[in-house]
Amino acid sequence: MKEFNNIISNVVNNDVFMSLQNINHHGITRYNHSMRVAYYTYRITKTLKLNFEEATEAALLHDFFIDEVDCENKLFKLRRHPKYALENASKYFDLTELEKDIILTHMFPITFTPPKYLESWIVDIVDDVSAIYEKIYCIRKELNAACMFLFILLINYLK
Ligand SMILES: [Fe+2]
Ligand SMILES: [Fe+2]
Repeated sequence: MKEFNNIISNVVNNDVFMSLQNINHHGITRYNHSMRVAYYTYRITKTLKLNFEEATEAALLHDFFIDEVDCENKLFKLRRHPKYALENASKYFDLTELEKDIILTHMFPITFTPPKYLESWIVDIVDDVSAIYEKIYCIRKELNAACMFLFILLINYLK
């Protein structure tokens, strides 16, 4: 965990990045989603003896955009946001070619350019799995709240 914290320290010391804590993303915060993707990327790429430092940092930055993509079309938003994240991340950090590729291709195949590196494929997959997990978690939470609400209504009705 100490090594992971060292790798992400540069990014989490940036105030603009930390403002992702206030942005909703898959029913949680964009900060928490990014942290989850970074952590599992770190575990997998280190185990596989890949470039885990750059992969982890780029995974943390893969959704680093503050302003929402200005378009109602959901597919268009999904396609555009990696470019927004790359432009934004480049403003604050010196990114390597690997890091740029990871951020830019993390939505493949929704975006058409495939990842060039194995690390980029890993972030792409970890991001997808995390998004599915977070959406299911969110739906379960809403279902639990709805069930609780119905239960309270029933109790009041039976009184
Ligand atoms: Fe994304
Ligand atoms: Fe993501």
